[in-house]
Amino acid sequence: MITNLSVQIAPKHHSGLLLANPVMTASGTFGYGTENSHLFDVQQLGAIVCKGTTLEPRDGNPQPRLAETVGGVLNSIGLQNIGVDALIKEKAPVWAGWRVPVIVNIAGETVDDYARLAGRLDGVAGVSAIEVNISCPNVKTGGAEFGANPESAAGVTAAVKAATSLPILVKLTPNTSDIARVAMAVAEAGADAISLINTLRGMAISIAMRRPLLGSITGGLSGPTIKPVALYMVYEVAGAVEVPVIGCGGISTADDAIEFIMAGASAVQVGTASFTNPRAPLDVLEGIKQFMKQKGVNDIAELIGAARKKAR
Ligand SMILES: Cc1cc2nc3c(=O)[nH]c(=O)nc-3n(C[C@H](O)[C@H](O)[C@H](O)COP(=O)(O)O)c2cc1C
Repeated sequence: MITNLSVQIAPKHHSGLLLANPVMTASGTFGYGTENSHLFDVQQLGAIVCKGTTLEPRDGNPQPRLAETVGGVLNSIGLQNIGVDALIKEKAPVWAGWRVPVIVNIAGETVDDYARLAGRLDGVAGVSAIEVNISCPNVKTGGAEFGANPESAAGVTAAVKAATSLPILVKLTPNTSDIARVAMAVAEAGADAISLINTLRGMAISIAMRRPLLGSITGGLSGPTIKPVALYMVYEVAGAVEVPVIGCGGISTADDAIEFIMAGASAVQVGTASFTNPRAPLDVLEGIKQFMKQKGVNDIAELIGAARKKAR
């Protein structure tokens, strides 16, 4: 039996973005893809999404930046990264030799920052698409502020779209009152696909030290504990927009990924799970293949939105 795992995640885009399979890494949890390439062949994945990139290099937030919680992790990295120039000089040439597409996650403090980043990445060999992070809860300005309401989210999307010919994914924050409305606005403004969710804002306190555990007081919650929230939001958004939806949030196993796909996601991203098991994205992919084989599913398309069809 020949199994088709390929998914088109930018069908409206003039050249599209065809992935060999639906499993990607989530931004910020897999570096630039190069760090784990000695552990397994990362090029087997559907796509690699790199660390959030800004115009200038950033040192990030004060330590401590990570705190473990029940079934999850709080982080306040604050977009520590090498900056777009170093990414173009040092990372993109490596990616250009890879068969797996690399998607560059970008973040800015102003709409103009996003447009300039998109412009700098346009036409760079090794960069297959841009993921617009309008959802980072760990920076003082920009970030999740843009993703919190439909108007500002659409403004960033339109500016990025105008600045690049690359396919663009827009990554949404769960820290908003109506995620479906934000999704509809960014789709209307030209997003080729929508990824969700970024982390949920949270905090933890050390009762021994009588102070917050994170250096920047609050952080973003990720990991298995957020999965039901992420799944619900993916279900909502997939019912609201025509563009492909990429599901993310607490995916650690193939079963988790299949739930998101059945909720309507065309692809998935594996994040925090890579911290405990760096091969998690590959294990998820292998598990999806096994599931399809066991159930006699020839094409992943049969699973996309399968739980929606039944609900109707
Ligand atoms: C340490 C850490 C760093 C992250 N950095 C970024 C980032 O730079 N850009 C971004 O869009 N999301 C970032 N995220 C969010 C993840 O990509 C993902 O959306 C979120 O963690 C939920 O998925 P998960 O539960 O599988 O980790 C980060 C998450 C963690 C835990």
